[in-house]
Amino acid sequence: MLDTLAGLQRTHSCGALRREDVDTEVVLMGWVQRRRDHGGLIFVDLRDREGLTQVVFNPEVNDVAHAKADMLRSEFVIAVRGIVILRPAGMANPNLATGDIEVAAAELRLLNTSLTPPFELEDFKLDTSEAIRLRYRYLDLRRPSLMHNLLLRHRAAQVVRTYLHEHGFIEVETPILTKSTPEGARDYLVPSRTNPGKFFALPQSPQLFKQLLMMSGLDRYYQLCRCFRDEDLRADRQPEFTQIDLEMSFIREEDIYSVIEGLMATLFQEILGLKIARPFPRLTYDECIARFGVDRPDRRFGLELVDVTDLVAGTEFRTFAEVAAQGGLVKAINGKGLARLTRKEIDELTAFVGVYGAKGLAWIKLTPSGWQSPLAKFFTPGQQEALNTRLQAKEGDLLMFVADAPQVVHTALGQLRLHLGKREKLIPPDTYDFCWVTHFPLLEYDPDEKRYVAMHHPFTAPLREDLPLLTSDPGAVRARAYDLVLNGTEVGGGSIRIHQRHIQEKVFAALHIGEEEARQKFGFLLEALDYGAPPHGGIAFGFDRLVMILAGAKSIREVIAFPKTQKATCLLTQAPAEVDVAQLLELGIRLDR
Ligand code: AMO
Ligand code: AMP
Repeated sequence: MLDTLAGLQRTHSCGALRREDVDTEVVLMGWVQRRRDHGGLIFVDLRDREGLTQVVFNPEVNDVAHAKADMLRSEFVIAVRGIVILRPAGMANPNLATGDIEVAAAELRLLNTSLTPPFELEDFKLDTSEAIRLRYRYLDLRRPSLMHNLLLRHRAAQVVRTYLHEHGFIEVETPILTKSTPEGARDYLVPSRTNPGKFFALPQSPQLFKQLLMMSGLDRYYQLCRCFRDEDLRADRQPEFTQIDLEMSFIREEDIYSVIEGLMATLFQEILGLKIARPFPRLTYDECIARFGVDRPDRRFGLELVDVTDLVAGTEFRTFAEVAAQGGLVKAINGKGLARLTRKEIDELTAFVGVYGAKGLAWIKLTPSGWQSPLAKFFTPGQQEALNTRLQAKEGDLLMFVADAPQVVHTALGQLRLHLGKREKLIPPDTYDFCWVTHFPLLEYDPDEKRYVAMHHPFTAPLREDLPLLTSDPGAVRARAYDLVLNGTEVGGGSIRIHQRHIQEKVFAALHIGEEEARQKFGFLLEALDYGAPPHGGIAFGFDRLVMILAGAKSIREVIAFPKTQKATCLLTQAPAEVDVAQLLELGIRLDR
């Protein structure tokens, strides 16, 4: 039979039926999750996007259907007509939305067979490598947890669109085939057939276009857009990812904060039913680095970094005294209650900070008889007391120190803090901690290129009062840039932009971007600045990262339908792939390997 569905119309999803539906005749369609033969009765768990329903084939209800059910196997596609009945007493499944009922089958139609899947599709049985799962992603997506993530992602996108629409934002699509955009990663290039030797770049973000839209008078723009960045991948990075991108005219930082806090509160309310406290706390970049060692603080637990440089400067412990004398930093973390760690465990922590450049990890255990530490002999009782007080050290604590240049100290202790937070399970589950990080440096020194580069991008406005520093001390200029951090993940970042040509030129000069280079790269934007650019600013969110957190997933790959691997390949389609010589010839490209 070619028209396999003739005469059958689906009435419900597999997640819909409840106690109230008993005695109704229904038609369900879906996949056989499991078949169990209990002698006389055959049970089938039928699955679709919405859930599972138990179907029971009873020879006394319909012996033809029962006989056919015998040949059902995992992932066969079927349609079932039957009557909803209450499960017998004691057989209800409270873990299943449809667990009170089952469907007594009167008709079974086989819509398709299936090969045996290469891995079990039930979530709790999953022990398959990610490579196999990605290779058969269409099967992997049938697993309830991944399907749930896709549905959650869809709902989140709807909430975002509705909220932004209600706040006057207009969705505009911007080009994918475009020119290099300045987000600092490597570009993906697309050769042009019609213009041999020339290339498009895929956008790293719609940054320049959204600014141009402000210059066009659009006032409030948003887009759920795809961005492409050829960078080294991690669990929270993909080569193509989705941003909630937005831009507003005639606004200052406060306007962005208020729109975004409303958006996040609405999102968490609608998706998780949680009330998020507003306004979000704000920390300056300098404060973040000083207290947490990183610019995206996870504030859900303590172990903050404490500066003790002044207290150790004059001590007999040479390592510390020398670093202090050379203008370096000595900082410590008080590991509350961690004096129980063994020598071996402390050695492991020392190796851990070594990866981040620390030359060692000095430690002090607070025992009932005072300091136990290789350092003890170098510190007078008074110096010990001063350190104890500064670090609020109590019996049972473990103090850990790194002495080095500020950048090494902050990175090493910042990472150690996160490591200990996870290792000691200090992070409370189901807490969502938002904070703004503000006043980022405008420029950072790139030792490879021996010049300053934009920390965010070159269109970020400097703080007005820092303008004179652009020439005298470029590294000290603060930017009107902000990141939104959620549980230690940077979920969004943006800035107030430069809207005046003379300031843009000053920043280009500080970046050593010459007139010719500026004209060639961003000439169209500079030109637009001359035609009445309004004050404007915006922000973009990593939508995948947000959904990952909302879904409680460990990797953004779990919330992307067809993600790429760490090596930026697609195991399903085998992209990237070789192409025909003829295609290359047309593009005027010859490969040299
Ligand atoms: P930025 O480069 O900070 O800003 O990007 C904004 C947000 O996008 C997310 N993100 C990523 N997510 C997944 N995979 C990646 N490879 C990846 N890279 C970035 C992060 C980040 O916070 N045009 C500016 C925004 C602006 O100024 O308005 C921009 O793109 O969550
Ligand atoms: P040493 O003086 O090399 O025997 O080291 C004594 C202790 O200080 C050891 O626990 C080292 O791990 C630690 N240490 C060495 N260099 C540093 C440093 N730069 N910062 C923090 N601790 C250090």
